[in-house]
Amino acid sequence: MIPISRPIIGEAERQAVLEVLDSGMLVQGPRVAALEAEWAAACGTRHAIATSSGTTALHLALLAHGIGPGDEVITTPFTFAASVNAILYAGARPVFADIEEDTFNIDPARVEAAVTPRTRALLPVHLYGHPCEMDALLDIAQRHGLVLIEDAAQAIGAEYHGRRVGSFGTGVFSLYATKNVMSGEGGMITTDDDALAERCRLLRNHGMPRRYRHELLGYNYRLSDLHAAIGLAQIGRLDEFTARRRANAAYLNAHLESVRTPTVRPGCGHVWHQYTVRVRPGLDRDAAVQQLNQAGIGTGIFYPVPAHRQPYLAGLGLGEVTLPVAERLAQEVISLPVHPLLSQADLETIVAEVNRL
Ligand SMILES: Cc1ncc(COP(=O)(O)O)c(C=O)c1O
Repeated sequence: MIPISRPIIGEAERQAVLEVLDSGMLVQGPRVAALEAEWAAACGTRHAIATSSGTTALHLALLAHGIGPGDEVITTPFTFAASVNAILYAGARPVFADIEEDTFNIDPARVEAAVTPRTRALLPVHLYGHPCEMDALLDIAQRHGLVLIEDAAQAIGAEYHGRRVGSFGTGVFSLYATKNVMSGEGGMITTDDDALAERCRLLRNHGMPRRYRHELLGYNYRLSDLHAAIGLAQIGRLDEFTARRRANAAYLNAHLESVRTPTVRPGCGHVWHQYTVRVRPGLDRDAAVQQLNQAGIGTGIFYPVPAHRQPYLAGLGLGEVTLPVAERLAQEVISLPVHPLLSQADLETIVAEVNRL
């Protein structure tokens, strides 16, 4: 089977973990700070604050901005549940704006239409590694005085007109095992705002500026040094990993004929966390997935059900909207392997099998 994703675990990652074990400092040692410094440099931000996961990073980013009960946060329905859950953890209300057909990302025109006097923040998601339309979203945020939190969980290194994602607003990343740069589990918040960075640091460690002085209600959302060491072994190879993903995506785009291949907007640097095609109208997606899996091609459906159609959100009264683009695309998408460990033979097999659909 050619897996849909495969973590890169080489000698550097193994050595890095062993060194932490041998050091005896499994937590709150030097690796977290080193990873934060490299992450900030990779994003072009003044600060990066490591957390235990992308989910906890999202929660902290919202809390650090003071978002809570009574506030509305506009986000996309076409995302992993964590983007929406973090808004609910903060006690705020997610409001969904439909997506763009070509990029799968939140549509700025729909965002504008969803703004109310209770809106406090925008939470766009750079889905699959393709940046959102940041000029339009920044403009909306500025005109309405809104916080902008970028869910860049899938998009480390992605660029919008030459600028890295995570540097436009408050950036949030995931280092989960399948991500382009991973640490097993892990998250990161990026910002240029010194005070916000300080609040995130406090919140992730029980509100403690120093031992046993608690200035606010915080959490244990720390990253361990074991995890940070894995991330550190990878972050320096970001450009190499991205180049491999781009080359794989270019090959697939050039050779796939039987499906609608993904596009990249001018001025956007896609990092291909996922390579997502759409089945032809009339083709049974489930049957296509089964056929590919039987032929040894791993696939993913990201995501089969948009957030507003999930039972738990319907239960909260948040499902009573119609978002036709997200609802349709959720039934058409199939993600194919694009990760850096694919060989030329793998790519040729994928092309041959997909073109048989
Ligand atoms: C778009 C998006 N947001 C948030 C997350 C949450 O990250 P984590 O799994 O590290 O908690 C993910 C992870 O898969 C994601 O894809």
